Amino acid sequence: TFTPRVFSGIQPSGGLTLGNYLGAIKRFVQMQEEDFETIYCMVDLHAITVWQDPADLRRNTRELAAGFIASGISPEKSILINQSQVPEHAQLGWVFSCVARVGWMQRMTQFKDKAGKNTQNVSLGLFGYPALMAADILVYHATHVPVGEDQKQHLELTRDIALKFNHDYGVDFFPITEPVIEGAATRVMSLRDGSRKMSKSDPSDASRINMTDDADAIAKKIRKAKTDPDALPSEAAGLKDRPEARNLVNIYAALSEQSVDQVLREVGGQQFGAFKPMLADLAVSKLSPISGEMARLMNDPAEIDRVLARGAEQAREITAPILKKTYEIIGM
Ligand code: ADP
Ligand code: NA
Repeated sequence: TFTPRVFSGIQPSGGLTLGNYLGAIKRFVQMQEEDFETIYCMVDLHAITVWQDPADLRRNTRELAAGFIASGISPEKSILINQSQVPEHAQLGWVFSCVARVGWMQRMTQFKDKAGKNTQNVSLGLFGYPALMAADILVYHATHVPVGEDQKQHLELTRDIALKFNHDYGVDFFPITEPVIEGAATRVMSLRDGSRKMSKSDPSDASRINMTDDADAIAKKIRKAKTDPDALPSEAAGLKDRPEARNLVNIYAALSEQSVDQVLREVGGQQFGAFKPMLADLAVSKLSPISGEMARLMNDPAEIDRVLARGAEQAREITAPILKKTYEIIGM
């Protein structure tokens, strides 16, 4: 009985990476064309769980909006917003901080990864992040959330929060959201270390392909990407225990919209010396139209700000009544 509605977000904590594009944005664009209402968000409140220079945050937020639009998200077909401009996200986030349990948060592997040994000196926001993320989704009663594999555990927690709220208050108010994690590149790995995901917040620029990298930078990073000395296998099973090789083939498959087996039928038996330039050419041909359009959009930041202001108004037509009803259920 819930309207089919998609919500997803990306942090403006740096520039977009190929991981964000293949794991998230490509699916955002597809779902916009399907039978869903679609809401896509720059999650700046999540970004400040770790320190962000104010000028960088402002610039990264606009650049992320430009990246969404340049990739094919249309402000006519989707609601495009910046999280801090829709106050109901933070308001419902507080409510969910009171629903979620400390023990649930302590199990989150992303928190453990990001905090490392430093668990006492990270922000309280970094620890409570998944409660705000649940609010981002549920303040729209979103039914589907397209994300990369790294977000799977946070989405399970979102479902747990909805279930606990519904149970505690004896209502059937929040939907139990479906994660949408599909395709050959749900987890793009670092180019320098096949055991870490590619991330915009990785200190090593060589570890990732940025959406704004030019052709030379892309070719150089792929040429230097860590691999093993063996030739490419002719089927997917041959990539087992070869994380770096598998990662490059997955990227190729996702960019060329083929399965891994289809790609390996074409390139099986080749050495990386031959495969890497093919991959670089493919990446450049897919990314350069997007980065060109991003640069054009960034020349008119006032227009980006207008798009986000309009998106916030549209969003609040959905979020304000849902928050009001939530408060009523709670007794407020
Ligand atoms: P980042 O780690 O680059 O800061 P975010 O936390 O902002 O990424 O995630 C934004 C979206 O991009 C999420 O849906 C996330 O699952 C997806 N994503 C991030 N990194 C990757 C990756 N390496 N491979 C696939 N999807 C990814
Ligand atoms: Na749509």
